[in-house]
Amino acid sequence: MSVDFDLVLVGFGNVARRFVDLLHEQRAALARDFGVSANIVAIATRHGRIASPRGVDARSFERARTDTAAGTGDTRRFLRDLLAREAFARRARAGRLVLVETTTLDIRDGRPAIDHVRAALAAGAHVVTANKGPAAFAYASLSAMARRAGRRFLFEGAVMDGIPIFNLVHETLPTVRVTGFHGVVNATTNYILTEMEQGRSFADALAIMQAEGIAEADPSLDVDGWDAAAKASVLANALLGARMTPHDVEREGLNDRTAARIAAAARDGRRVKLVVSGGRTPRGRIRARVALEDLPANDLLAGLEGQQNALILDTDLLGEIAIVQRGSGLTQTAYALLSDLVAISRSDRDRPPVRPRARRGRTP
Ligand SMILES: NC(=O)c1ccc[n+]([C@@H]2O[C@H](COP(=O)([O-])OP(=O)(O)OC[C@H]3O[C@@H](n4cnc5c(N)ncnc54)[C@H](OP(=O)(O)O)[C@@H]3O)[C@@H](O)[C@H]2O)c1
Repeated sequence: MSVDFDLVLVGFGNVARRFVDLLHEQRAALARDFGVSANIVAIATRHGRIASPRGVDARSFERARTDTAAGTGDTRRFLRDLLAREAFARRARAGRLVLVETTTLDIRDGRPAIDHVRAALAAGAHVVTANKGPAAFAYASLSAMARRAGRRFLFEGAVMDGIPIFNLVHETLPTVRVTGFHGVVNATTNYILTEMEQGRSFADALAIMQAEGIAEADPSLDVDGWDAAAKASVLANALLGARMTPHDVEREGLNDRTAARIAAAARDGRRVKLVVSGGRTPRGRIRARVALEDLPANDLLAGLEGQQNALILDTDLLGEIAIVQRGSGLTQTAYALLSDLVAISRSDRDRPPVRPRARRGRTP
C-alpha cells in the first residue's frame, strides 16, 4: 500500500529548505522501498505564506517571500484557516496531512510552535518537528492529544539531529526502561570548546558555526546552555516521563572564565565538555542539568571533537547504551524529518483507516 502525504511546512529556513531538497533527492527510494510520496501543499513563515491543495512550488515561494507578495501575518491564524478549508480538512481526516514544524525555538515558552502543533493535531494532521519547543515545554499534553486523535507527534530532530534516540527507544527497545541519561548534545558549544583548546578565540569559533547554519539564530541560546537545557527537557519528558520545561533544568553555559578552565583542565590531561544529564533523585523526583564538566581523557564524552555529540542512556535491562554522532549538520536534521515521515507511514499501514477521534495510536 502506498502512502501519499500532503505536507504543510511552517517555518522555511535552513532545515526546511534542506528537507525539501532531501525529499527530492530521496524521492525514488521513498517510493520504491517504503511506498511513500510527499507533496508540499503549504508553506508559512513570518514573512510569507502560500497554499494550494494541489501542491505549491517551494522555489517560487522563495522568490515570493523576498518581496512578501505571498502575504504576511500570524502563522497561527493562517494554519487555523488552512485546516478549516475542506480540501485540507479532508486530507487530515484521511491521515494524509502532516505538519512539518521548523520555526525557531522560543525559549520563553515554546510558542508559537506549540500552538501550531495543537492546531494540526486538533484537525487530525500528524506532526513532525525539529523544533525542541513543543516536546520541551508540552510533551505530555501534545503526546496525549496525538494519542487520542490516533495521530503521531514525532520530534526525532529535536535532539542529535537524525540520529535515532526516540525512535530507537520506542520502536526497538520493548519493555526496556530508561532510568537516566548523560551526554554532549550541543554541536555549537562542543565545536567552540574544542577550537578554544587549539587557541582559537571564542568569537571566531562561534562565527564559523553561524556561517554554517549550525548555531541557533540567536547564538546565546547555544552559548548560555539554553539549547542544551531544552534538549535535556525533551529527553527527560519523553524518556523518563517528566513534566518539565527548560526553565526547570539547572543550567550553566560558556562564559568569560571558560578559556582559563579549559587551560587548567588540559594541564591535568582533562577536557571541558558541556554535559547534559537527567535521572531520578533518591526521592523519585526527576532532575535534569546542563553543566561544564572536566572529564578524564578516557571518558567517552571527552573524546568528542568538533561538532560531535554523544548520549548515554542508562537502562534497566541493557545497562548503558551509548549513541555517538560523528557527523552533524543540516542534512542530518532534515533526515530526522524524513525518517519521522516514514515512521508515520509505517504506523499508518498498521492501522485500519477510521475517523481520527475513534482511532488509537502510539506516540513516543
Ligand atoms: N540548524 C540546525 O542544524 C538545527 C538542528 C536541529 C534542530 N534545529 C531546529 O530546527 C528549527 C529550524 O532551524 P533553522 O536552522 O531552519 O532556523 P532558521 O533558518 O532560522 O529558520 C526558521 C524559520 O522559522 C520561521 N519562523 C521563525 N519564527 C516564526 C514564528 N514566530 N512564526 C512563524 N514562522 C517563524 C522563519 O521565518 P522567517 O524567515 O519569515 O523569519 C524561518 O522560516 C529550529 O527550531 C532549530 O532549533 C536546527
